[in-house]
Amino acid sequence: MRKITIAIDGYSSCGKSTLAKALAAKLGYNYVDSGAMYRVVTLYCLRQGIIKDAVFMREEVVKALDRIALSFQYNASTKASDTYLNGENVEKEIRQMEVSKNVSHISVLKEVREMMASIQREMGKDKGVVMDGRDIGTNIFPDAELKVFMTADTDIRTRRRMDELTAKGNTVTFEEVKKNLLSRDYEDSHRTENPLRKADDAVVLDNSDLSREEQLDFVLKLVYDLKLLDQEVKDPKAV
Ligand code: DC
Repeated sequence: MRKITIAIDGYSSCGKSTLAKALAAKLGYNYVDSGAMYRVVTLYCLRQGIIKDAVFMREEVVKALDRIALSFQYNASTKASDTYLNGENVEKEIRQMEVSKNVSHISVLKEVREMMASIQREMGKDKGVVMDGRDIGTNIFPDAELKVFMTADTDIRTRRRMDELTAKGNTVTFEEVKKNLLSRDYEDSHRTENPLRKADDAVVLDNSDLSREEQLDFVLKLVYDLKLLDQEVKDPKAV
C-alpha cells in the first residue's frame, strides 16, 4: 500500500494525539505533534520573560524565533517522540498549564506560523506521516489523502485533560481546565491566520462516547477504504 498523509485536526483535548500516535504505530508511520511546536515557542518566550500573563511585544517574539531550535527524539520507554528546545528535553514543561494559558496568543502570529509550517511540511514531505493540530488539513497538507476532524463534549474533554494533568502531578481545578479549553477553542477558531476549521473534505469524528479502540478502528477503516479506492482507480484510463 502506498504511503499517504493523514491530517488530524480538532478542538483542544479531544484525544487527537492519542489517536494519531496509535494510528502511526499501527501503520508504521511517523507521528508529528504540531501543537508541541507552538508550545516550545511559548515556553521559550515564558522563560525569557518575553510573554507574561498573555502580554507580549510581537517584535520580541519574532526576534526570539532565530534563537529557537526545535527537534524531536524518539523515547524508547514511552514509545513516542519527546520534544526538544535547543537540545533540552522539554516534553513535560510544554504540557504545563502556564504554557497552555499562553500558547494560543503566540500561535496567532504570522511569523510563528510560517516558521512552524515550514518545519511541518519538511517533516511530512515523504508522506507516511500522521500529523495532528489545528490547520493540518486546511493549510499544511491541503492535499492529504485522509483528513479527520475531531470533536467531543466539552465536559468530557475537560475531565480527560484534568486526569492527564493530575497524573503528571499538576494541581488543577475542573473549572480552570474547562475555561482554558474553551478560551483556546475560541482563540484558535477566530484568529486571522489559519484558524481552526473543518476542511471541506474532512471526516468528522465525535469521540465523546467512543473508546480508544473504537476510534482507532474507525480511522483504520477509512485508511483501508482508501486502499481499495486506490486499487480500483489506479489507472482509470487502462480500464
Ligand atoms: O494540540 P495542542 O493543544 O498541544 O496545541 C497547543 C496550541 O497550539 C493550540 O491551542 C493552538 C496551537 N496550534 C495551532 O495553532 N496550530 C496547530 N497546527 C497546532 C496547534
